[in-house]
Amino acid sequence: MNNLKSQLLTPSLNSLTLEDKRQELKTYFNHTWETYESLFGLINHDDAYYLKPEPLRHPLIFYFGHTATFYINKLMLGKFIDKRINTKLEAICAVGVDEMSWDDLDATHYNWPSVNDVRDYRRQVSQLVNNLIDSMDIALPIAKNSLAWIILMGCEHERIHLETSSVIMRMLPLSFLTLNEQWKTCDSDVSVEANSLLPLTSQTVILGKPSTDDTFGWDNEYGHQTHHLNAFKASKYLVSNSEFMTFVKAGGYENKQYWTEEGENWLAYSKASMPRFWIVKKDIYYQRNLLNEIPLPLSWPAEVNYLEAKAFCHWKSELTGLHIHLPSEAQWHVLRGDTKQQAHIESANINLSKYASSCPVNRYAQGDFYDVSGNVWQWSESVIDGFDGFKVHPLYDDFSTPTFDGKHNIILGGSWISTGNEIIKSSRYAFRRHFTQHAGFRYVENISAEPPIETLNPYEMDDNVTQYLENHYAKPLVEFTGKPFYEALVDLIKESLEKLEIKTDKLLDLGCKVGRASFELSNVFSQIDAVDFSAAPIKHAVNLQQGKEVRYTQKSEGELISFTKVTPLPESLLSNDNLIFSQGDPSNLKPKYSNYNVVLAQNVLEESYDAQLFLTDIYHRINQDGLLIIVTDYHFEAKQPNSSTWIGGKKIKGENVTGFEGLSERLLKQYNLISQNDLIQVFSVDFRHYNLNKYHVTVWQKK
Ligand SMILES: [Fe+2]
Repeated sequence: MNNLKSQLLTPSLNSLTLEDKRQELKTYFNHTWETYESLFGLINHDDAYYLKPEPLRHPLIFYFGHTATFYINKLMLGKFIDKRINTKLEAICAVGVDEMSWDDLDATHYNWPSVNDVRDYRRQVSQLVNNLIDSMDIALPIAKNSLAWIILMGCEHERIHLETSSVIMRMLPLSFLTLNEQWKTCDSDVSVEANSLLPLTSQTVILGKPSTDDTFGWDNEYGHQTHHLNAFKASKYLVSNSEFMTFVKAGGYENKQYWTEEGENWLAYSKASMPRFWIVKKDIYYQRNLLNEIPLPLSWPAEVNYLEAKAFCHWKSELTGLHIHLPSEAQWHVLRGDTKQQAHIESANINLSKYASSCPVNRYAQGDFYDVSGNVWQWSESVIDGFDGFKVHPLYDDFSTPTFDGKHNIILGGSWISTGNEIIKSSRYAFRRHFTQHAGFRYVENISAEPPIETLNPYEMDDNVTQYLENHYAKPLVEFTGKPFYEALVDLIKESLEKLEIKTDKLLDLGCKVGRASFELSNVFSQIDAVDFSAAPIKHAVNLQQGKEVRYTQKSEGELISFTKVTPLPESLLSNDNLIFSQGDPSNLKPKYSNYNVVLAQNVLEESYDAQLFLTDIYHRINQDGLLIIVTDYHFEAKQPNSSTWIGGKKIKGENVTGFEGLSERLLKQYNLISQNDLIQVFSVDFRHYNLNKYHVTVWQKK
């Protein structure tokens, strides 16, 4: 591929003299830019820029403009420039890069710019960045908040889109693309021995790179994570078209037992019966490459999404009786070993150094295995997450965190068109499991039926749930409230217990949310059942109980969000085995929830779809002389728009009845009112805005 051959490696952050570093960055920027334009130069008709060969993604005109726009947006954000070049184009090409879901069809009409306008725009951006590189201050090592880092970020971002754009171009009609000597498809298909499993010893793998690492990294690469791996075996080759064909011919796509539920849904949506780039014409199989269509090269890697690869592994497990899985991220690192980057590239179909396509799976050996890096990406079992110590880059805070949702699996090793950061050992890229890339897989045999995958600890992003985490665990603004809310509530409960000499065998914490009150009372009661209507907050309570870290996003200012975590609870609050969190309906509890000394009902009156029913039912679950403690702000309309189930806060028979009056009316026949107090809870809406709730806490003793 002549001048595209041997793509430059991503620059070191700390070598050379300052002036040589400036030149190196300039060369890297321009080389990246030209390679991207060379790819788009394969398109021979402007109409092709506006087609949507992948209906779930933008047309190519977006991507042509997007990588240039990225520089301007980041430079503006970092205040390295103060003027935009083309406000309209920069708005259109800024975001919305990747489909978020295969069932998330976007019919929005875009008024796309002309190809010439984008070419013109790209020229202006290139000139601006070149000028910036010429005049900027450089200090070594290149720091994350520096202009040089933003330039590198723009380069690596463009190299990602070099790859993803080539995948979309692979879906364009061939008539829109011109063959090109610099983008040459491999022309060899050979015979390959049957794939085999090679053994690897048990070992400890530490993933993640230090902040002092010598190359540019995306936020998700930094930090550390330790894995103790059992011995396992891994396939010598990537799964070839030939090997995958046995699965297809065995009815793999028709047999639902091999597919996960997500896989089945995808099959129903896509109607797939073979890999995306296979074509059948008159019973003969072909493969679509970037620039040509050829008889299916049986020795080349099968290119599939995770769901297809996973189905193959299920089928293979059944066929062999072995525990066949996709490798975990850590297992791939065992295969990858410590070979230096340059040596690894030389013996791999990667970095655009060999072909503009895949090639036979037995061509490039790296140790005992073939294609550990290169040829096509390899799907893993690992769902992406941040390592310990993860921090977002302030100028690109949505690069990784939207993928920390349990729905994005890591792909490893890079493909023939992967360059720059994509091909360094520590890089981490993840896509949705149904996503089409130049990606295939190899498989491993594990000792266990479950693959050794890392536990996911995603950021909670649901506003409702993050609000609970904030309410329960954030540092309270005590300067306005005196005693923090939960401290005050727990003190009040303890005082009531003492004063009334209530037994402390059993507590029911209804509306427990993320668990703070239960944890605080876990040393007081012998048994606590903590129940909430929704599973989403309980999940976090359980994680905290298990000593895990709980992380969540929080609005900080405008569109900006911050990433925060709950400090692990003190051991003294976690030692009680008799605290059990469960999901349940406060108005329709299972019979087992009975014989309580105390029932604490937090926000149940206003959140329950039938507060009357709740009050009727709960009476039978409290022991004689036991307490019902109700925490409420009587804000019924927030959760229950229909007032028929409200206990007050409305006119009844023409009379105003407050929530407390309605509650008293209901309870005084069966309980004595022991105390009533107002407790203030202050919680943040964002960094500078707070809400203040005055909760009414009433303590009732069963007659
Ligand atoms: Fe992008």
